[in-house]
Amino acid sequence: MALKSVSEELSGCTDAALINEWHAVAYSTDIEKGNILPLTLLGRDLILWRSDSGEVHAWDDLCIHRGARLSKGCIANDTVVCPYHGWRYDDTGSCVLIPAAPDEKPMKKAHAITHSVQEKYGFVWVTYGKPAKDIPPFPEWDDPEYQKVHCGPYTFRSGYRAVENFMDPSHFPFVHAGVNGIYDCPDPIPPYDVEMTENEGLVTSEVRVTQPYGDPREIPVTAYYAYKCLRPLVSYFKKRLVIQRPEDQHLGNEADRFCTFLTVQMVDEKTSIVRICCATNFDPQPTEAEVRRRQDIVYAQDSAIVDTQRPERIPVDLRQELHHRSDLLGQKYRKWLQQLEITYGVL
Ligand code: FES
Ligand SMILES: [Fe+2]
Repeated sequence: MALKSVSEELSGCTDAALINEWHAVAYSTDIEKGNILPLTLLGRDLILWRSDSGEVHAWDDLCIHRGARLSKGCIANDTVVCPYHGWRYDDTGSCVLIPAAPDEKPMKKAHAITHSVQEKYGFVWVTYGKPAKDIPPFPEWDDPEYQKVHCGPYTFRSGYRAVENFMDPSHFPFVHAGVNGIYDCPDPIPPYDVEMTENEGLVTSEVRVTQPYGDPREIPVTAYYAYKCLRPLVSYFKKRLVIQRPEDQHLGNEADRFCTFLTVQMVDEKTSIVRICCATNFDPQPTEAEVRRRQDIVYAQDSAIVDTQRPERIPVDLRQELHHRSDLLGQKYRKWLQQLEITYGVL
């Protein structure tokens, strides 16, 4: 029988399209020097830790000696110390000390299973493979006109259903009645275009929505959403806002935009963690607490419904559910998942 490596045994998802992709798995502020953060991505257990150099490291939560969990260990002298026999690993993942034989140089194979990491937009991104594309663009991040507020984490079951929901304006009047839509007067969704692009994935034309409480200023606006489904588990919208009431006009202007960059960490096929960053260029800006309060309400309303959708694994064969013209972006999204030959968490 062929020898299966420990790392293969514990690998979880094996879809190339997800392995060779960057996944946001934490906020940068979650990783403090001296602490080990355990997490699970695509069914595989990891640790994150920040070395003295400031760099974040993502390793399998596994000591190569006898398989103990490194997350149960500690950080000492810029090394990860295994809780079982005290082997120490430096920030390259090499074992530098075997306490049972302190004078011996540890064998080369005594090495943590390491993964590539990047910090970008205030998130920590990890990949198991070799992504063909870099982390997708979030143009407002580098634009000083925009205030950036990280919100979440929000737990959802299906990560794909969470992404699809994020890009679905026809649920607003029902799930977010009085906030993002009006229950008794739902907006008809006019036809919109969806285009597949090389680096920005699926890109839509603007979709118009009436919002009685469309942003943290708590005033009625007409909102125009332009969506980009940047990657299978990263999505974005830029919302143009037109203030409705003449008496509210002093609260903003035509240049007002509300953008959200949404990331999904698929813990496993039925558990996901959504983290977002909101970017606004309002004048005056809402406080960070106001932005967060509203997002917390909206995403709680979303998960309360999205987590009831069955099956939890999203059907990508379009014959399985009904698709209306107003769901065009969702249809294209499912088709895309299918074309990418994703099997993990889909039906
Ligand atoms: S299992 Fe980690 S040191 Fe033995
Ligand atoms: Fe929603």
